Amino acid sequence: MAIKRKPLFVAGSAAIAAIVAATAAVSDIGDENILIVNGDIEMIVETDPPEFLEDVFDTIYSGWVFRSPGTQAMQADDFDNPAMLDVDLARDTFNTVMGTEGQSCASCHENPESLAGVRATYPQWDEEHGTVQTVEMQITECMTERMGAEAYGYDSGPMRQMSALISSVSRGMVIDVAMDGPAQSTWEQGEEIYYTRYGLLELSCANCHEQNYGNNIRADHLSQGQINGFPTYRLRNSRLNSVHGRFFGCIRDTRAESFAPGSDEFIALELYVATRGNGLTVEGPSVRN
Ligand code: HEC
Ligand code: HEC
Repeated sequence: MAIKRKPLFVAGSAAIAAIVAATAAVSDIGDENILIVNGDIEMIVETDPPEFLEDVFDTIYSGWVFRSPGTQAMQADDFDNPAMLDVDLARDTFNTVMGTEGQSCASCHENPESLAGVRATYPQWDEEHGTVQTVEMQITECMTERMGAEAYGYDSGPMRQMSALISSVSRGMVIDVAMDGPAQSTWEQGEEIYYTRYGLLELSCANCHEQNYGNNIRADHLSQGQINGFPTYRLRNSRLNSVHGRFFGCIRDTRAESFAPGSDEFIALELYVATRGNGLTVEGPSVRN
């Protein structure tokens, strides 16, 4: 399915008109978007939107669809995906004893594969703590409350590696993050943040990722800002990037003060953005420019 050219969104913001260029970039997107990783894991890179977005999108797309053929190809094979080195390192960590209780992750979870499905349903409500938890918060909980280990920084290298490992074992699974029940008020907070205009440029997430996807902004081809590919290995900084790290960069680019990785605001935003991708498949760790 080809992506339809979006009308350039100008109302209320001269800034977006100044930085977004409607070019022929949409034609970069093939009519046949097929991603099969390692000749085995079939990804859903485009599908019907979740119900609450039916008036907004005809189709939701993985960020993979918007990348150049070379970058796309790197994600199709683990030997070419630089992030798989991080996944291997995290596999070693998974089996390493840490903290005062003398346990490794494997003492309780056997192997990473036993955590398949986690990435597809997180963030999710945690009954014990009465809060919405991201994968990173769950890792922190196990390390500090169960292993007697010191927590990794929320957006630190080892945390991104462990998060990549946990994503990798869910690859190909359909994202199904809950937005109702006890998570609903957090979801609503995230939705509000998504539509708030930030910074000197007065731009919301929606101005770029909802109204202008498919267009070019500066040298970049705008996607729908989905997070099914996280953590992402970016060729630009040659390392894994977390969901909150990306949110931080996007808000900073509007020349606003950004929220911090791990903040309540970004947790709520992650929950909301995750549900915008319900129906796509887990691709993390993916490759991006
Ligand atoms: C002492 C046992 C123990 C150790 C060690 C441990 N965990 Fe856990 N972990 C648990 C228990 C129990 C739960 C379920 C509790 C919950 O849902 O809050 C859990 C839940 C999780 C989940 C979420 C599973 C789900 O289905 O929602 C992840 C991810 C996770 N652990 C990762 C890790 C990682 C990574 C490590 C090592 C850094 C680790 N755990 C170490 C006991 C442990
Ligand atoms: C000024 C336009 C602009 C705004 C506003 C903006 N972004 Fe982005 N965002 C980009 C560009 C450019 C990229 C890189 C190309 C792409 O993947 O779309 C990007 C990438 C992303 C990605 C990575 C997608 C992937 O598959 O790798 C996510 C997630 C994202 N943005 C979320 C957000 C959220 C959430 C907000 C609001 C807090 C936001 N963005 C605001 C321009 C913007």
